[in-house]
Amino acid sequence: MNTAGKPRVLVTREVFDETLAYLRQHCEVQANQEDQPLAPAALAAAVAECNGLMCCLTDRVDAALLAAAPKLKAVANIAVGYNNIDVPACTARGVMATNTPGVLDDSTADLAWTLMLGTARRITEVERRVRAGEWTGWQLKQWLGVDVHHATLGIIGMGRIGQAIARRAAGFDMKVIYHNRKRIAPELERKANASYASFDGLLAEADFIVLQMPYTPETHHLIGAAQLKKMKPTAILINSTRGGVVDDAALIAALRDGTIRGAGLDVYENEPKLNPEFLKLDNVVLAPHVGSSTEATRKAMAMLAAQNLVAALQGDAPPNLLNPEARSR
Ligand code: GLV
Repeated sequence: MNTAGKPRVLVTREVFDETLAYLRQHCEVQANQEDQPLAPAALAAAVAECNGLMCCLTDRVDAALLAAAPKLKAVANIAVGYNNIDVPACTARGVMATNTPGVLDDSTADLAWTLMLGTARRITEVERRVRAGEWTGWQLKQWLGVDVHHATLGIIGMGRIGQAIARRAAGFDMKVIYHNRKRIAPELERKANASYASFDGLLAEADFIVLQMPYTPETHHLIGAAQLKKMKPTAILINSTRGGVVDDAALIAALRDGTIRGAGLDVYENEPKLNPEFLKLDNVVLAPHVGSSTEATRKAMAMLAAQNLVAALQGDAPPNLLNPEARSR
């Protein structure tokens, strides 16, 4: 608390004016509107006296950072994925951690579909060719793609976003199969028009494989050389979740030697420093982690994170609390 009795919070990256205005009604706000990510030491110094932290997936919140912020009560991530936060370390210190589920499901599902359609129809490759002046006229066999309609869509990770991706497939007359740690409820399967498949069964059957599971130690390199070999040579892989669930070097080899047909990627290992070999391949569509990046959705995410933070600092249960045990400490 500062002298005025308001909790002090750090906002690590640029946010919308309306987000800051809301936060300022309730908190003393220190905001990094420069929008350069703070290096770990700078972040630790900036958060040292704070009660709340509003952060992004580019900020690592680990035991060392928490140790540097003894007054911290809550960490609000502006993302649904929270692999950048060590939640058990937060719990151990009684620090509440929150994320922003729900508000980004549809935008992220739309982006997965953008990648599917874009990869199937080679849209970034042909656009590059148009710009390079290579288009000299219509030809019957020119830059042929593959159909999305009537193909089989395989979704690995059937949470809210996976289900939103599945529901969109109805308009394309697709067969939808999914794999998830746990089978989803029958009424959700019906709504998604999706049937459960084993992991290997899905890899072997799907024409489009979309990854939408969280990134955890268990899902690290879930898709590597062995799994890519189990896919059809015509398969297209979409990663719209997190870098690290795919072994990028193995994917590059598979794209190069025709083990699979193509890939549409929004996320990478070590992003934003993606493996330069990707840039040499025409059969991959490369997006810069923009899954949820529409104005309405990013505003909703930032506001939800702010509401989570304010609720936590006021002693209320934040709507998206990841570690309820921290609250009782
Ligand atoms: C974005 O990648 C998110 O997890 O919200």
